[in-house]
Amino acid sequence: MVSLSNQIICGDCVKLLGKIREPFADLIFADPPFNIGYKYDKYNDEVEGEKYVAWTREWMSACKKVLKPAGSFYIAIGDDYAADVKIIATRELTLVMRNWLIWHYTFGQQTKNKFARAHTHIFYFVNDEKHFTFNDEIVRIISDRQKIYADKRANPAGKIPDDVWDEYPRLCGTFDERINFPCQMPESLLARIIRASSNEGDWVLDPFSGSGTTAIVAHKLKRKYTGIEISRKYVKGTLKRLEQSEGYPIEGEGERKWSENLDAELKWLYHENKVPVERLTKDPFLLRLFTDKLNKRISERQNPFQPQVIERRLVALNSRMKLGPLKANIESLRDAGKSS
Ligand SMILES: C[S@@+](CC[C@H](N)C(=O)[O-])C[C@H]1O[C@@H](n2cnc3c(N)ncnc32)[C@H](O)[C@@H]1O
Repeated sequence: MVSLSNQIICGDCVKLLGKIREPFADLIFADPPFNIGYKYDKYNDEVEGEKYVAWTREWMSACKKVLKPAGSFYIAIGDDYAADVKIIATRELTLVMRNWLIWHYTFGQQTKNKFARAHTHIFYFVNDEKHFTFNDEIVRIISDRQKIYADKRANPAGKIPDDVWDEYPRLCGTFDERINFPCQMPESLLARIIRASSNEGDWVLDPFSGSGTTAIVAHKLKRKYTGIEISRKYVKGTLKRLEQSEGYPIEGEGERKWSENLDAELKWLYHENKVPVERLTKDPFLLRLFTDKLNKRISERQNPFQPQVIERRLVALNSRMKLGPLKANIESLRDAGKSS
């Protein structure tokens, strides 16, 4: 078992996992090819439907066998086979579905004669409906009650995010984080999943490692990782990416100093919470909530940040256009409330 820990292994996940006798994974994140004709290095992503479903059953069963009794299993899948995945998981493998998440992204593919597809399904299953890890506190965001109504009776910890995730854009070619790989997941999205469903020291498995996003984020968040990938070229790319990202924050790139680590976390927290800078700077209550969340995220710091420091940094980043526009922010929520 030790030989799997913190490794990116080149091989077929069904065969490799089939050789393992003991469950070891606390969390599995699987993002298989969707059978939509993507051009991968070693895998043909255009097979006959029945064959694809039979293969899906095989790899899901192989994963279930290595999932610990209190483990969690997330599966990303496209529209065409989402129903098959759900049925195999819950009826055949007796996994328990906790959420059917929708990752809604910008930069969806353009279409000519139907609505453009801009989402991916992410299933969240567990082995045992009563025993599992769900670290709600670390993923909670400022609630509408806190944001819109400044309601001091609202749960001070904020709310657990909804099951539609729209804060994480698909990585297009121009993004700093993007490497030469057809369908790389954003690190920030993996960070939410890994933070919620595992603890430091836990073991995270990705049977379709691709560019290695899961392993990289697991490593940054102090989890053990195992990635399995059929293409030697992608394994090589991941090993290089792992080496280059050592010591850097989520969504790491290039040479970074601590202040840039903070910027990366600040930026994601900002997009998750959707309160514009102009509002945060005027509302001490919201700024305090936001600051508390940042301090929790970077728990290794001994001296917590003070709201004024965060405020200054947010304003500076915003004036340099480094934060980017917010989706459905608090102001639009308030307007919607007025018109209904
Ligand atoms: C959708 S991509 C995963 C992308 C990944 N989540 C990321 O962020 O980079 C699917 C990957 O599965 C790999 N693959 C296909 N069949 C496989 C198998 N039987 N065992 C292991 N990897 C496989 C493909 O080569 C491809 O890199």
